[in-house]
Amino acid sequence: MTPTVASFPAARLRRTRSTPAIRDLVRENSLGSSDLIWPVFVRDGNGIEEPIPSMPGVVRRSVDKIAEAAVEAQALGIPAICLFPYTDASLKTEDCVEAWNPDNLTNQAVRAIKAAAPDIAVMTDVALDPYNINGHDGFVVDGEIVNDATVEALVKMTLAQAEAGADIIGPSDMMDGRISAMRNALEQAGHSNVMILSYSAKYASGYYGPFRDAVGASGALNGDKKTYQMDPANGDEAIRLVQRDLSEGADMVMIKPGIAYLDICHRVKSTFGAPTYAYQVSGEYAMIQAAAQNGWINGEQVMLESLMAFKRAGCDGILTYFAPEVARLLNR
Ligand code: PBG
Repeated sequence: MTPTVASFPAARLRRTRSTPAIRDLVRENSLGSSDLIWPVFVRDGNGIEEPIPSMPGVVRRSVDKIAEAAVEAQALGIPAICLFPYTDASLKTEDCVEAWNPDNLTNQAVRAIKAAAPDIAVMTDVALDPYNINGHDGFVVDGEIVNDATVEALVKMTLAQAEAGADIIGPSDMMDGRISAMRNALEQAGHSNVMILSYSAKYASGYYGPFRDAVGASGALNGDKKTYQMDPANGDEAIRLVQRDLSEGADMVMIKPGIAYLDICHRVKSTFGAPTYAYQVSGEYAMIQAAAQNGWINGEQVMLESLMAFKRAGCDGILTYFAPEVARLLNR
């Protein structure tokens, strides 16, 4: 039968998918190296790049190698690098004094990066877990993770990092009141330009497993982090946390983990319009790498697809262990 005009589809949406040029023309979101923050692990020693078995492709670097990595990242157009220390077990204590040692691994690495790659922004982690004998982000007193004493320690850590030259302070601890305490201390110490990217909506997640191996905190952790990290069942609470942190002086906010919390990314960005970042965490990275290594998925394709999803959800950028690989691919 000859179709009548009326039987043609009113809208043929396939038309705008028909050629690469048209697909380029109608593409709504883009992913570029400027969307990336690269988390790296620092260890002691010299000339060392030590593989982390649960994160294939990721290494712990000695400070000199961190500086080299920063130079490479800067050349790739990655705007920021984020430091996490692998602290030797002998330096982990109950009072966590290594956390605000001006010469600890993080602070050494900040200075080395500033000397080698002055244009890349350096972000540092604020939480006690890499230095804590029991693996928690805060002090433990009689089995309780105490809030206010921890905040005082986080402030000391923040000031040491700012003094070393950090551009962005990243509190990942989830204590209450830390943003205003850190902001005030930074202002008073003359670091009014140092920014805070708050881990505002950080969930108590199973996706952090490989990271805890990477920083040597897996064996150490007593119990879980559910009294300070969020319940995965909650969304409104994330909005309240972001609102609180912005009102306390956070410049940027983060949702963590990433893919499983895209709804939160979208809600946060559309509610506040603030610079919003997602952390594609270690477990997400490890899952993609493991499946790719087994030939079960196309790793490159899934890597790019997962990162584009954050942009589509409204994020301004992504912390991802894939950063240099993605940047190399996108710059090609
Ligand atoms: C802890 C911290 C964690 C991560 C960043 N900072 C783990 C945790 O809360 O136990 C996880 C990052 C990742 O999994 O990639 N302060």
